[in-house]
Amino acid sequence: MSKGVWIPLAALCMFRVSECLECFSCQNIADPDECRNTSQCSSGQSCSLQTSQAGSDLRFNMGVNTISYAVPSLLAHTVSLDAPFRPDSSPHVMNAAVQTAAMRTFVLIENLLNIHHAKITCPKFCGLCQLVDGNWAAWANWSSCSVTCEDGKQTRTRTCTNPQPSNGGLNCTGPASDTKLCTKQLCPVHGNWTEWSTWSGCSVTCDVGLRKRTRSCTNPKPDRSGDFCVGESSEYTVCLTDPCSTRNGGWSSWGSWQSCSVTCGGGLKLRSRTCTSPSPSAYGKACEGNFEAFAVCVNTPCYAVAFNAHGHNVLSNFVNAFPTVIFNEGNAYHASSGHFTAPVDGLYYFTAQFCCIPQQECGFFIEKSNASISSSTHLTATFEHHTTDVACTSASTSVKLNRNEHVWVLIQGTSSYLYDGYNGWNTFTGTLIQEL
Ligand SMILES: *[C@@H]1O[C@H](CO)[C@@H](O)[C@H](O)[C@H]1NC(C)=O
Ligand SMILES: *[C@@H]1O[C@H](CO)[C@@H](O)[C@H](O)[C@H]1NC(C)=O
Ligand SMILES: *[C@@H]1O[C@H](CO)[C@@H](O)[C@H](O)[C@H]1NC(C)=O
Ligand SMILES: *[C@@H]1O[C@H](CO)[C@@H](O)[C@H](O)[C@H]1NC(C)=O
Ligand SMILES: *[C@@H]1O[C@H](CO)[C@@H](O)[C@H](O)[C@H]1NC(C)=O
Repeated sequence: MSKGVWIPLAALCMFRVSECLECFSCQNIADPDECRNTSQCSSGQSCSLQTSQAGSDLRFNMGVNTISYAVPSLLAHTVSLDAPFRPDSSPHVMNAAVQTAAMRTFVLIENLLNIHHAKITCPKFCGLCQLVDGNWAAWANWSSCSVTCEDGKQTRTRTCTNPQPSNGGLNCTGPASDTKLCTKQLCPVHGNWTEWSTWSGCSVTCDVGLRKRTRSCTNPKPDRSGDFCVGESSEYTVCLTDPCSTRNGGWSSWGSWQSCSVTCGGGLKLRSRTCTSPSPSAYGKACEGNFEAFAVCVNTPCYAVAFNAHGHNVLSNFVNAFPTVIFNEGNAYHASSGHFTAPVDGLYYFTAQFCCIPQQECGFFIEKSNASISSSTHLTATFEHHTTDVACTSASTSVKLNRNEHVWVLIQGTSSYLYDGYNGWNTFTGTLIQEL
């Protein structure tokens, strides 16, 4: 064996007996195809082919060889002629004849090899080949339904990964996806208008009337929570016909006078009428003239009440009767009693002032009472004291008085304290602001 190459021929021994591997076993023959002897191969062995050359004479030795190196996926190589042929690791060079013989062997393998034989025999090669058939993984979950109402589809898929086929193992058979029908509730029906009806005839036989057309939301009618139609279900249009017999408008009688625009003094009052007796027809004439009329109204005269008095005359009841009356519009102030008597219900305004000599106390009240003067009410209370000079002090008040109620000024102390001269007057003044 000076020169030679060991060719692992694992597949070659398989087609003979599937369960129990055999190798061709012939020594020193010129044509490997002529070999008919076989011998059993066992664990850790593979079939082999050895060539040797003496001059131009190429000889073959075929038999069982103990595996001295790993041959990965030998069968995977054998099913593909494109895969590189891998010789013994010993650094012998294959000449052309050896290659030819090796290729021939592989063609033979290619023709004879049945992948199912390989699958069965593979385990006997102690891991030399890793042929694995594919197997389906579990189905994935169903997809959600393709529609939200009525009929749709659901699909699910599976993959050939449990395990994945490898080294020429069989692919999974059967579909990789699956479809089923899903049925949801019926879809909502949205409403739609019918076409418009034709226009109706005019609503009147003379003058101006209306024509109408309609449609309904029944094309189709909304159902199962569908939307109602948007828009109006009727439309109108004006129709002009021949004039009716013409009727001109006429005034109703005047209404009664409304109340006067003011409650005292002179004002205006109003009355009105309407063009309804009769009302004019469409082509008739409207009424001519004003529908409103005004007239002057004269109420009881408005009250003008105001006074201004000064001086001092303290009465025994300590009311000061201001004796000097500058003016007394409406004559409501009485200089003898110092009382103001309201001539009319209304809002009034009063001011009073007193001046006192130095070192004396100077105080007063503005008071009111009802008509019988049986009891009185303070409206103001005022006090002043000065050590060196004449001291004046004043007070003002607004008050609502009924007719005949009284207002006056009550002093504290005695009249001898009062000063009434160039530097200060004792005064009392009042005004009707508004009648009520
Ligand atoms: C085949 O085996 C027989 C008997 O063992 C032997 O005589 C013969 O030489 C063998 N043939 C070859 C080609 O080795
Ligand atoms: C598949 O469906 C089941 C049951 O509804 C659920 O528990 C599981 O999470 C789903 N798997 C995936 C990947 O969605
Ligand atoms: C295996 O089947 C899948 C799906 O049918 C396909 O895509 C793939 O090419 C097949 N593989 C082989 C090696 O035949
Ligand atoms: C509504 O009805 C009209 C008239 O029949 C039709 O032209 C239109 O297509 C309908 N629309 C829908 C959304 O059904
Ligand atoms: C005045 O007031 C007193 C006590 O409040 C009452 O008894 C009297 O009737 C009143 N007089 C008038 C005229 O209102």
